[in-house]
Amino acid sequence: MVKLAPLRTELLEQVIQLSVAEQQLPYVGTIDEVLINADEHTHPHIVLKHDQVIGIFLIDMLYSQSYEFAESGSLGFRAFLIDQHQQGQGYGGKVMGQLRGYLAQHYPNHHSIYLTVNCKNTNAYQCYVKNGFHDTNECYLGGAAGPQHIMLMKLHA
Ligand SMILES: CC(C)(COP(=O)(O)OP(=O)(O)OC[C@H]1O[C@@H](n2cnc3c(N)ncnc32)[C@H](O)[C@@H]1OP(=O)(O)O)[C@@H](O)C(=O)NCCC(=O)NCCS
Repeated sequence: MVKLAPLRTELLEQVIQLSVAEQQLPYVGTIDEVLINADEHTHPHIVLKHDQVIGIFLIDMLYSQSYEFAESGSLGFRAFLIDQHQQGQGYGGKVMGQLRGYLAQHYPNHHSIYLTVNCKNTNAYQCYVKNGFHDTNECYLGGAAGPQHIMLMKLHA
């Protein structure tokens, strides 16, 4: 029911309708701010429920060059959001459940993936920790909205 796919131009119209609640903006920004970070090294991927776009995330291939804590050869998982009208229904967890297989298919040469999540963003932290990411117990202090947990998922068992 939930599928992941690289963002295709014809879906942009649906993608720009995605939004989060105002109090979640410090954690992820607006959809425009998410899309502006996409480039040749930071790829947008979408979450589809049947044919409807319900979420987006970015895969950053140069994450380890931007963040000292990240080992070389690792990816970065950034700007994950599920539309505010679709949250709390298990879709975030389902995305996490598919992520390892999806990344193995699209990024076979990368051994692990990192993310940072604001220490106040309990829902997102729970979504990650229950579904394959583990807390490194280190903090990243460079975020604009306060300290963040650094989390890691190994991509090859
Ligand atoms: C974080 C986010 C992607 C999770 O997606 P989601 O579809 O809402 O997540 P799920 O419904 O699969 O929930 C996964 C877990 O998160 C927690 N959770 C999610 N929404 C929750 C809510 N409204 N209240 C309490 N816990 C919640 C629960 O622990 C849940 O696990 P459980 O169902 O086993 O109890 C989504 O809430 C979101 O887009 N938030 C705004 C943007 C953001 O903060 N992104 C993360 C940036 S690092």
